[in-house]
Amino acid sequence: MTNSETTRSASQTGSIVDDQDGGRVQSPAPANAASGPEDYATLTVGDTSLILACAAGTCPRILYWGTALTDTRPEDLELMTRRQHAKGGPDVEIAASLLNEPGLGLGGASGFAAHRGGKEWASVFLVERVERPAPDQLNLVCRDRATQICVTHLIGIDPRSEVMTCRTRVGNEGEEVLSLDWCTALCLPLDERASCLRGFSGRWASEFQIEHIPEFSGAYVRENKTGRTSHDSFPGLIATDRNTNEDAGMVFGYHLGWSGNSRVRVDRLSDGRAFVQMGEYFFPGEMRLAPGEVYQTPVLFAAAASKGLNSLSQKFHTHFRKQVMDGRIRGKARPVHYNTWEAVYFNHDEATLFSLAEAAAQVGAERFVLDDGWFGGRRHDKAGLGDWWVSKDVYPDGLGPLIRHVGSLGMEFGIWVEPEMVNPDSDLYRAHPDWVLGVDAVTQVPFRGQYVLDLTRSEVVDYLFAALDGLLGAHDISYLKWDMNRDVHHPASGGRAVMSRQISALYRLLERLRAAHPKLEIETCASGGGRADYGILPYTDRIWVSDSNDAVDRQRIQCGASHFFPLEVTGSHVGPKTCHSTGRKLSMEMRVASAMFGHMGMELNLLQETKADLEVLKAGIVLYKAHRELLHTGLFWRLDTPDHINAMGVVSLDRKQALFSWANLTGHGKTLPGRIFFSGLSPERRYRTQIIWPSPARSPTSPSIIEAADLSGAGTVFSGEALMRSGLQVPLMNPETCLIYRLIEE
Ligand code: DGJ
Repeated sequence: MTNSETTRSASQTGSIVDDQDGGRVQSPAPANAASGPEDYATLTVGDTSLILACAAGTCPRILYWGTALTDTRPEDLELMTRRQHAKGGPDVEIAASLLNEPGLGLGGASGFAAHRGGKEWASVFLVERVERPAPDQLNLVCRDRATQICVTHLIGIDPRSEVMTCRTRVGNEGEEVLSLDWCTALCLPLDERASCLRGFSGRWASEFQIEHIPEFSGAYVRENKTGRTSHDSFPGLIATDRNTNEDAGMVFGYHLGWSGNSRVRVDRLSDGRAFVQMGEYFFPGEMRLAPGEVYQTPVLFAAAASKGLNSLSQKFHTHFRKQVMDGRIRGKARPVHYNTWEAVYFNHDEATLFSLAEAAAQVGAERFVLDDGWFGGRRHDKAGLGDWWVSKDVYPDGLGPLIRHVGSLGMEFGIWVEPEMVNPDSDLYRAHPDWVLGVDAVTQVPFRGQYVLDLTRSEVVDYLFAALDGLLGAHDISYLKWDMNRDVHHPASGGRAVMSRQISALYRLLERLRAAHPKLEIETCASGGGRADYGILPYTDRIWVSDSNDAVDRQRIQCGASHFFPLEVTGSHVGPKTCHSTGRKLSMEMRVASAMFGHMGMELNLLQETKADLEVLKAGIVLYKAHRELLHTGLFWRLDTPDHINAMGVVSLDRKQALFSWANLTGHGKTLPGRIFFSGLSPERRYRTQIIWPSPARSPTSPSIIEAADLSGAGTVFSGEALMRSGLQVPLMNPETCLIYRLIEE
């Protein structure tokens, strides 16, 4: 379609109506789009503005997104951003839209791909009307009459966090099925100064690894086809300018709230423009819209900040706390977990579990989570999934005795489940071999000896709901650890790919379960942190961030996760002295310090720990309990440090107290460490500064700053300005150690 055709079709469309009450009003179409204030839409919330050109009959365009513009006319922005014909290119530079749809003829990847039997693919979406359902929300209804597709962009900026939420709804208005191959939640133009990207990669037991992507031409693309959020391609991205650090510089962050397949891409066009896209990855033929059917993308959460990476994370954390998290546990202290997995694996033995429960309660656990191995024929990982009844082999009298014992010790009881899966060696599979996802002619990829149940079939979901509802109804269980331990390679039902519908069905199942059990809390786990995102978290309360309980690894993993997730949801456990995933040996002090900056728990055989280590663990749990309110409600700060250090902190909202952690991961390059430069304090106030962990802290040589400033004792009062600007010398510390500083206003 040419530009002139675009203009011609403009005359067929309605005009913009800015309807604050959220109703939909259509007025007759003008022959030409009128210029004037209604040709633009502005959302300014706090320190963030989004300004669009959206005259009726034109392609909508983002003129600006970033730090608030409060005294700028959109017309001026339009003029100021006017570009020109480039030699060797089209006579007029092609303007981008909110989807960069194929009909525009724009270079780079389109944000939309759809067709009917190979035709009607070249859509151009023209604004029909703009709705304002609320002052901070904007709906742009656009239509292409030739391809008979309506797209509605739903955009909002949350007033408390300034995080922008974007979704696009696609409606098939034709008379034939529309094959939708790709639809980004929105194409967001990238500020040309934000040329440095940080992506998230990783693997099992090493999630949320930050990757620095230098400036490039063409595309940066991450496609996740694992059927879960994935360990290796978390759908998040950060763009910064060259000088951005934790506390200064321009920064833009993006996260797709979706727990299934996804695509993240950034395209840099040869004309200098760049766009970010995020949406669901579809297998061939997966998304087919019958006439009248509508598809809606997952939400793309995006935030712009001007004071470095910390200011971006703080916006995401606020958004998470106020908008994403379910209100059911808001205000509840996050209980200390004891999880049985690395203590007993599949060797469930009632007497041992009774003793472990007692030992856990003794060191301060508040929730006991019975992990994998309690049900059906689940004596190992090749059998039992699907048979959600208590195994008489290991629990002859059922779970009642253990649950009562745990309750008598003052702990809540939680239990592990993996509802979406079935082992071929299970009664469920023997009865319903057809209940699994797969393609008939294709052999299942072997993966932990299990298959994926087809949640798009209502009888499967009803079976799972009945099984879980029955389990919860019959026992005093207040917590589910909901696991998902395989990738989904061929997510087909009746031959068609259904991954998207599978995830929606999962969300509905979780929703139904939570409605039936309003006090139930759920942990999202997928072999560790394989399913952590803002899509699943409205239905869950805690992320199992990683199967690595290695405190050194955890420092990095949790640092990565902290870009989008606040500490109260990031489950973090004290593991065994010799880490099961790496073989590394770490002190109890290091393990405790690393678990404390999260939702703390334990996952080790307490019956095999030394008395001395148990005492240290107990003291660490006391410390966590004393500070969890601060850790879970305050503002989070990462500190800029050399690579071998990981340092972060939380400052209370009133800036009266703070807790900072400084971990020496691999040893110092110099003879002595440098200083710790605190962040987020009030420069005008004075803070008593102490090292409260390990207790007492000792340096290999003395006297050190510990003695000089009595840091392990009463501490010393320093000004906030000096603590932030001049910094406090760190004592010489061995590798794989971690100090925790407490600062309290005097
Ligand atoms: C993977 C989880 O991440 C572990 O914590 C544990 O629950 C196992 N699955 C159990 O099979």
